[in-house]
Amino acid sequence: MKPLLGFFDSGVGGLTVLKRVLERHGAVPSVYLGDTARVPYGNRAPAEIRLIAAEVVAWLRDQGVTTVVMACNTTNALARDVAEGQAGCPVIGLIGAAAAMVETRRVGVLATPATVNSGAYRASIEALHPGSVVMEQACPAFVPLIEAGDLFSDDLRRAAQDYLEPLLSASVDSIVMGCTHYPLLVPLFRQLLPDSIQLIDPAIGVAQQLDAVLGPPGTPMADCLQLEACSFNVTADPDGFANRATPWLGERPSVVHQRLQQPDRDH
Ligand code: DGL
Repeated sequence: MKPLLGFFDSGVGGLTVLKRVLERHGAVPSVYLGDTARVPYGNRAPAEIRLIAAEVVAWLRDQGVTTVVMACNTTNALARDVAEGQAGCPVIGLIGAAAAMVETRRVGVLATPATVNSGAYRASIEALHPGSVVMEQACPAFVPLIEAGDLFSDDLRRAAQDYLEPLLSASVDSIVMGCTHYPLLVPLFRQLLPDSIQLIDPAIGVAQQLDAVLGPPGTPMADCLQLEACSFNVTADPDGFANRATPWLGERPSVVHQRLQQPDRDH
């Protein structure tokens, strides 16, 4: 069966995962869903996040995807079982991949409030690295500010300073970017962090895990991403999404609006 990868996130964050996969594997047929009508996920209650995950994964299944990539840590932390129940195909997630990438003993994790409250990162890192010290920091302001588009705004810089400060005080030696939106902030993080602190992007581990599905990576063929086999879908504001995606992807994607939710039967 020809592979068709299905990626989903609440917005542009999952593009950081898609990009790592395309960089490693070239033109991979993919369907991307950004649930922009409901961003952010990470400030929502667990039950709501689980309902959303069921709906978006069912939509991907209906598109005929052969592997689901949960390009969203929040659903990964709270609804991995839901995704596996709906997908009808293998599901690949970020949190285990991130834990496998940890190499130091004092580990900071930046993530959404829902992901931090789930304890999923702490559990996964401690299981693989007993004796490590894990310090999690919830970052509720990041996703709305990133989706607003200015990655160097004063508000983002102030929020980053606030969220990094406890991790710096705790002398972490690596920081996991436990939300797929956060790799968009690497230039800002690098301005605020000493070089000695390693930034871990779980998407790199996910792209490596996909070798099992897509085969080993070939020689990189192009210095730009090959997007021709990708379809981009959102639940709101396709133009805004295309604008925000363009700097990251290196070209403007064409984006289709999708309606996921069933119409309300009472109206
Ligand atoms: N980018 C997602 C994550 O990795 C969702 C963030 C959000 O919508 O709050 O958690």
